[in-house]
Amino acid sequence: MAATNNYEPILSAGVTGTVYSGRSESLADYRAKGGYDGLKRALEMGPDKVLDLIKEANIRGRGGAGFPAGVKWGFIPRNRERPHYVCVNADESEPGTFSNRSLLEQRPHLLIEGALIAAFATLSESVYVYIRKEYYEATRQMQRAIDDARAAGLIGKGILGSDFNCEVAIHLGAGAYICGEETALIESIEGKRGYPRNRPPFPAIQGLYMSPTVVNNIETLAIAAEVMRRGVEWFKGIGTEKSPGMTVYSISGHVNRPGNYELPLGVTMRELIYDYAGGIRDGNKFKAVFPGGSSVPMLFEDELDVVMDFDSPRKYNTFLGSTGIIVMDETVCFVWASLNLMHFYWDESCGQCTPCREGTNWMYKILKRLEAGQGVNGDVELLEDICGNITSRSICALGEFATGSLVRTIPRFRAEFQAHIDQGRCPFEKGYMRFG
Ligand SMILES: Cc1cc2nc3c(=O)[nH]c(=O)nc-3n(C[C@H](O)[C@H](O)[C@H](O)COP(=O)(O)O)c2cc1C
Ligand code: SF4
Repeated sequence: MAATNNYEPILSAGVTGTVYSGRSESLADYRAKGGYDGLKRALEMGPDKVLDLIKEANIRGRGGAGFPAGVKWGFIPRNRERPHYVCVNADESEPGTFSNRSLLEQRPHLLIEGALIAAFATLSESVYVYIRKEYYEATRQMQRAIDDARAAGLIGKGILGSDFNCEVAIHLGAGAYICGEETALIESIEGKRGYPRNRPPFPAIQGLYMSPTVVNNIETLAIAAEVMRRGVEWFKGIGTEKSPGMTVYSISGHVNRPGNYELPLGVTMRELIYDYAGGIRDGNKFKAVFPGGSSVPMLFEDELDVVMDFDSPRKYNTFLGSTGIIVMDETVCFVWASLNLMHFYWDESCGQCTPCREGTNWMYKILKRLEAGQGVNGDVELLEDICGNITSRSICALGEFATGSLVRTIPRFRAEFQAHIDQGRCPFEKGYMRFG
């Protein structure tokens, strides 16, 4: 078992190992554990010192890119010429990712405290929590927590007796994957269709209502609240030097114990699958794993000792992404799995950019005919060619995300793809559960 064995979950206390336990932390429970002490400390320190502290902590964004929160907050102008906004990203539509949902349902005050600290440090007075509308229970718990916090003087005017005013409101998305992309999310809050914007200008300069805006994932903000309360040294004592702290890994697919596992950054993929998630189901052999949601390239058996921090997976041209880990055993057909996922990306592409709109459609059609045994020689190479023509040629990253299931899989498992053409059928046994 890993050295992380003794790690006590902090963000997700009570969530770990389960998808949903049904219990939401009340304001009284939260305050009894020191909840909102981080906000109190922030108010005493003042916005500039809070910003410095968050920068020093090097909290890397948990929304996918690992961008340091302190640096992002520091891009917001240090004046009040225009209103500033904090948008909390709780859209969580990445396949295989379900940690934000549990945090929203069970630790809503931790998230509110983190968002208030972000607002204070960036001279903002408005927080929008963007939640996908399918997260009904999460929204209910979040709204209850907001109401309780407001009644206790933690939201609104003169928070905790200071001169800091801040409102917090929930904005429900309509369940579009693209609305998790930060500029599409901003458009959606503005009441428009969720089309990603061209950058520059970046949201820190022209975001919501063309005003300076921070968009952070809710887990990033939860961590900020803990760092304010427990200090930078405590935080840096967890995880690795360049990826300090902890994260919640969502593990799904063909493992014995799927669920959310909060652990220090730095645990290996092998430990996650075998020590925590109980290994591969039914005694089957491991085949491949998406380490960070279905948008990032897969890892294979000889790569499982990779450290799951923000930098190490890059040596295999993949990423920590959303830390949504989807494990596939030997029964999975990669053509079928890619077809399943490509349908999702094609369906969710907003259609603004030709390479993404057409490319996802073409790849979906090619995979469909391969799976049906109607592929022709050259189809596999055509898939690779299309992947190469989407990457870096679109407004947002969704186009590139669509290639995640193919870019490393085709070179490694070309024979499996080609077999669909040579045999005129899917070589995997029909009727056997192959993915999901
Ligand atoms: C298609 C697409 C979907 C995304 N979905 C999410 C999401 O559901 N949640 C999230 O936090 N970030 C998502 N992101 C990343 C956001 O654009 C943004 O980088 C993130 O919210 C920043 O938060 P962080 O700095 O705290 O990591 C998505 C990006 C893309 C391109
Ligand atoms: S890459 Fe795709 S999803 Fe992103 S803006 Fe372009 S068409 Fe829309």
